[in-house]
Amino acid sequence: MRVLVTGGAGYIGSHTVLQLLRAGHEVVVVDDFSNAKPTVVGRLEELAGQPVPVHAFDLADGDKLDVLLAQERIDAVVHFAGSKAVGESVAKPLDYYANNIGGTISLLRAMAQQRVWRIVFSSSATVYGEHAPVPMTEDLPTSATNPYGWTKVMIEQILRDVAVTDERWRVALLRYFNPVGAHGSGRIGEDPSGIPNNLMPYVAQVAVGRREELTVFGDDYDTVDGTGVRDYIHVEDLAAGHVEALQWISEHDRAVSTWNLGTGRGSSVLQVIGAFEQASGRTIPYRVAPRRAGDIAASYADPARAERELGWRAERTLVDMCADTWRWQSTNPEGYPDGQD
Ligand code: WQD
Repeated sequence: MRVLVTGGAGYIGSHTVLQLLRAGHEVVVVDDFSNAKPTVVGRLEELAGQPVPVHAFDLADGDKLDVLLAQERIDAVVHFAGSKAVGESVAKPLDYYANNIGGTISLLRAMAQQRVWRIVFSSSATVYGEHAPVPMTEDLPTSATNPYGWTKVMIEQILRDVAVTDERWRVALLRYFNPVGAHGSGRIGEDPSGIPNNLMPYVAQVAVGRREELTVFGDDYDTVDGTGVRDYIHVEDLAAGHVEALQWISEHDRAVSTWNLGTGRGSSVLQVIGAFEQASGRTIPYRVAPRRAGDIAASYADPARAERELGWRAERTLVDMCADTWRWQSTNPEGYPDGQD
């Protein structure tokens, strides 16, 4: 299929572009580069061994989307584009609602206009909210505790409502747990701007010497060692899940499908530190601080539905995730260069 990947220059988007190409699809990327460097495109073309067409504009521009969908003869969309920083969303809720929900509405209008009916949406386990039992199953109620999380809850609802308007819609809602890791080549990876909010990129920056020490947010949770437990999933396994989901919705009549993409296993912060030290040979100094507002003790998936329906399962271990993260970070200590590399 000819697949439009929105946010395809981003962390998960770029890894998914490669796997879609490897699966034999043709890929076109649209990205406004508000949270990605143009250098990513060159890396993708290097790894793909072929050109990757990229259109740089904001999804809010519906006219450009109409033209793009028509001219590129798009068959399906994998939709990553959106802002994703929890803290920032609390400070700038209108920016998050405008960008994430406005952009999605613009995309869906253009898709209906151009009769493109297949969409795989980048959702998140954050939609399970603060009080969900673990392991989390897809039939749990959804809620959020911050505007970023609410955009995911709301966009899922918008997609369910739009799917009712025309029987041709085929929607996949993919709920990611904690994506980490990098392509085995070390040429693409997670490159957050500023101080990383998330654990793995922060640990990687400590290991490579960009940060002094890690702050562990709380060691008094009711978990194996008191630190927060999460379901870390390798971005390559996550990308493979997108390829399988796209194939499935193209072959089945169900209008809306919801799948957890997680390993089903939880790892604590201290276990991540240990795995990273094992994978990198570097010591990760840390200090324990009070809990971070909004954090929950434990989050991990019940991935049974994706395994059963998609035949998909996360294969890579936590040490694999740390080793691949380290290869990316140690060969790109400052992340992607600004120029052309
Ligand atoms: C993981 C664990 C922290 C940083 C977030 C978003 C979620 C999703 C994934 C988009 C927790 C601890 C972290 C640090 C720490 N993003 N930690 N020191 O919070 O599970 O999920 O990213 O969909 O929406 O909320 O991921 O990596 O921030 O935290 O101790 O410097 O690491 O307390 O237990 P989280 P995280």
